Amino acid sequence: MVSATQQLEVAAKALIPGGVNSATRNVGAPATFASAHGAYMTDVEGRRFTDYHAAFGAILLGHTDERVNDAITAAIRDMDLVGLGATELEVTAARMMVDAIPSVEMVITTMSGSEAVFQALRLARGATGRSRIVKFQGCFHGSYDAIARNVISPADRAYGWDPNSSGVLDDAMQHTHIAEFNDLESVEEIFRRYGDDIAAVILEPVPHNVGALLPEQAFLEGLRRITREHGSVLIFDEVITGFRHALGGYQELCGVTPDLTTFGKAMGNGYPVAGMGGSAELMSNFSSQGGSVMLAGTFNGNSVSMAAAIATIGALQDPELRVHEHLFRLGARMRAGLTEITTDLEIPAVVTGVGSVFVTYFLDGAVRGYRDLLRNDDDAYATFHRRMIDQGSYMYPMALKRNHISYAHTDADVDRTLEQAGDVLAAMAREGAFSAVRQHGRANV
Ligand SMILES: Cc1ncc(COP(=O)(O)O)c(C=O)c1O
Repeated sequence: MVSATQQLEVAAKALIPGGVNSATRNVGAPATFASAHGAYMTDVEGRRFTDYHAAFGAILLGHTDERVNDAITAAIRDMDLVGLGATELEVTAARMMVDAIPSVEMVITTMSGSEAVFQALRLARGATGRSRIVKFQGCFHGSYDAIARNVISPADRAYGWDPNSSGVLDDAMQHTHIAEFNDLESVEEIFRRYGDDIAAVILEPVPHNVGALLPEQAFLEGLRRITREHGSVLIFDEVITGFRHALGGYQELCGVTPDLTTFGKAMGNGYPVAGMGGSAELMSNFSSQGGSVMLAGTFNGNSVSMAAAIATIGALQDPELRVHEHLFRLGARMRAGLTEITTDLEIPAVVTGVGSVFVTYFLDGAVRGYRDLLRNDDDAYATFHRRMIDQGSYMYPMALKRNHISYAHTDADVDRTLEQAGDVLAAMAREGAFSAVRQHGRANV
């Protein structure tokens, strides 16, 4: 008898390459979901999972949030997309973003984080007349050619030549230099060689695409100083951290203000919307304001995206909801619980994260930059997540991938997940699944 999952998977694979519309969705069963509400998602077989994947961080308030869905339904009664001038919704959303994000005086909206990053890099190059970019090993900024390299690189390709894709001109990637996160000297070295030609330094202020590297304040301040001294554009890619860690993004928490900021994911709570903003001076280089940097996009500013952003940001601003307080409290509880479990079991682990994001690396010693993550026991990491899925807590089953808590998660969800994690990790410890022996209990909570 062919199950509902098998039927859907067979049809998807016949029609869509690999059966998925984004390669990282191909991580094995359960792979076909029928519904998602609040903190839970249900697959086509009717099995329910507590969702810590959160569509790679796009879900912040919880699935099918009524505030967001009702706002969209109301908006589309009046207009879908006209594609001329600006709508009331676009201006309202822009006002909210400008008010919320310290670095943003003017803003554009796009349909995806990749487009926002691409616009930011093109703007930086257009405004400075320079060609080179500095990015960090382990940071991911979407699919645009110039930054499609050096994300989760194996040891022999880290910091070297490690393209994410074929089909990209080498030249497009060779103008992008790779530095080590939290290591200012690695950035200074690139500036010593190419300083006059560096258009931009781009980073995830917390590199969540490799879990959670915690930025040192002196490092962020140092990047601000170096880019100012050399006339380069500092870009914070806050596609994950934006709105999730604070209304104004991580820059609000660290007090370092970049020249340009990109954001997306959580800002629409699951609906496609992203954006990019910065100083009015830099933003005036767009062709929409008579500058030379092209700005175009048929679907930019459509009613669904704008209504989703307005409703989501509105919920984050609502003092009665206290969204960030809830996210941070549950995140801290989860990290403290996982630290206790791994310490008691003497498993070599570093439990870390920020706010609603939590990560359990399986390694000994402190984590500062990508180099430290090369010591992570990738097999144990993926096995832990895979077995948590079997228990009913969906943690994306691939090494270095992070977990997200949403506003819809409750203390009871955290308690249940910690109980499951205790069982799973105890069983793995009994089986000798961890490659390193713990020397000291450490946690970067
Ligand atoms: C930090 C960061 N920037 C940019 C992107 C690209 O965003 P999108 O997938 O919406 O194109 C991602 C996606 O994961 C991301 O994590």
